[in-house]
Amino acid sequence: MALSLLCPLLTTFLFMQTLADTSCTTDCFVQSHAAYYPNSQEHGTDVGACGFGSFGATINGGDVSATSNLYRDGVGCGACYQVRCTNSAYCSGNGVTVVITDHGASGNTDFILSQRAFGGMAVNTDAAASLLALGVVDIEYRRVSCSYPNKNLTVKIDESSSNPHYLAFVIWFQQGSRDITAVQLCETQNFVCKLLDRDHGAVWTASAPPSGPLSLRMLFSAEEDGDETWVAPVNNIPQDWKAGQTYDLGVQVDQ
Ligand SMILES: *[C@@H]1O[C@H](CO)[C@@H](O)[C@H](O)[C@H]1NC(C)=O
Repeated sequence: MALSLLCPLLTTFLFMQTLADTSCTTDCFVQSHAAYYPNSQEHGTDVGACGFGSFGATINGGDVSATSNLYRDGVGCGACYQVRCTNSAYCSGNGVTVVITDHGASGNTDFILSQRAFGGMAVNTDAAASLLALGVVDIEYRRVSCSYPNKNLTVKIDESSSNPHYLAFVIWFQQGSRDITAVQLCETQNFVCKLLDRDHGAVWTASAPPSGPLSLRMLFSAEEDGDETWVAPVNNIPQDWKAGQTYDLGVQVDQ
């Protein structure tokens, strides 16, 4: 009994030691596998678990991905990864940079890429066809900064929202390589704030939100060193916010 308990623990410990020994700073790639969405067109899916809607299918030119472990209960939504396949006959050195917009697992893969992103790892169109024919390939990946030139952080009010009773939204165009781990919603008269719930994926919700214009506070956390920073946007969400609308927050982050 004791031994059977100890062995998995020991194995876990040794495994973590190995991870620690090979743990690298920023330019370290992790070995894994990738598949692609079987039934999609070129882009990702409109119904990704992150709740980004059609934005989640087409953002980043459609270079998007579902992930299993990296999803982290939705915290991983919007994170960017450089993914490159390792078969030197077909694969380019840089691979592709994808944005996580969905949750999913296929065998022992970390990524289910859009077909566009999957083919984008190849050196040319012939090689892309060969890669697609393989279906699942060896890859290596690392987290990288997202970049959305000329875009500010933007709130997209979810279609499920109904002013003034229920507010649900996602945040678009998050640059850098941090995670949004908490969001506060503040009314702008007395700046009374309340912490929001992450409903699912990247979707933040408030039942009975305060009336009047609303101001957000977003907590950006670094996965590597745990560093945390609250960011307060320049622009408010207007009092007459509507389901389906987007509101430019007037700020951007680059870390
Ligand atoms: C981003 O926000 C800044 C500052 O509020 C503003 O001047 C700029 O026009 C915004 N950029 C875009 C692309 O909307």
